[in-house]
Amino acid sequence: MEMISVKSPREVERMRRAGQVTAQARALAGRMVEPGITTLEIDRAVQKFIQKQGGTPSFLHYAGYPASACISVNDEVIHGIPGSRVLQEGDIVSVDVGALIDGFHGDCAATFPCGQVDPEALRLIQVTRQSFFEGIRNARAGNRVSDISHGVQEYVEANGFSIVRDYVGHGVGHQLHEPPEVPNYGRPGHGARLEAGMTLAVEPMVNAGDWHIKVLKDGWTVKTADGSLAAHFENSILITDGEPEILTRCQESSPWI
Ligand code: MF3
Ligand code: CO
Repeated sequence: MEMISVKSPREVERMRRAGQVTAQARALAGRMVEPGITTLEIDRAVQKFIQKQGGTPSFLHYAGYPASACISVNDEVIHGIPGSRVLQEGDIVSVDVGALIDGFHGDCAATFPCGQVDPEALRLIQVTRQSFFEGIRNARAGNRVSDISHGVQEYVEANGFSIVRDYVGHGVGHQLHEPPEVPNYGRPGHGARLEAGMTLAVEPMVNAGDWHIKVLKDGWTVKTADGSLAAHFENSILITDGEPEILTRCQESSPWI
């Protein structure tokens, strides 16, 4: 098995900086989610902001990905490509951003309502966000990776939604994607043992209907197979001997991030 990197205190300091810029880019995108805006306008603003902070958008050109943010609307789960799509009142809009600053990546996502949205869609967003916090209750040194996974899955399923299985969270650091994989489902007590100084991107992807997904012909956009709504929530976290530190914590008050 590939080694999981443990960050030194100086590296953690750099991860914090990358995390803060990434969190601010997500917040900026969230404020722009309004009826009438195109997803490309949001992407451009995210890119400009990250570059102004001295960073590089982590996703741009990653495996050929053509944009700085992933913007996934309604039944799109993840990896929606920004473009000419105009957001409509009632849409739910998942924005995922990554920034490379001084050699380290931050990675985070959230789902934002566009104007007034259906109460069941709002509940999906809230359950998805909360499932992240339920998962990371178990994210501490000495526990195992799947203790996080299990916490996410239990909460999501208890609330009547399903967890996407084909995509998982991951280690984050010098590379956007490092070991270990962090699934959002599974029995507790499995996978690598967590150590203080590991940094993980925990990212539940939740479908209102069935967990199956399909990938569109563009090679990126992931949609729910049954056409139901989906939501996504992600933060980069630091494992400690106590509670994890959320490296992409939002500094402003918002119900969505
Ligand atoms: N947060 C997502 C991930 O960790 C975003 C990756 S999009 C890509 O996988 F374009 F970079 F692939
Ligand atoms: Co990620």
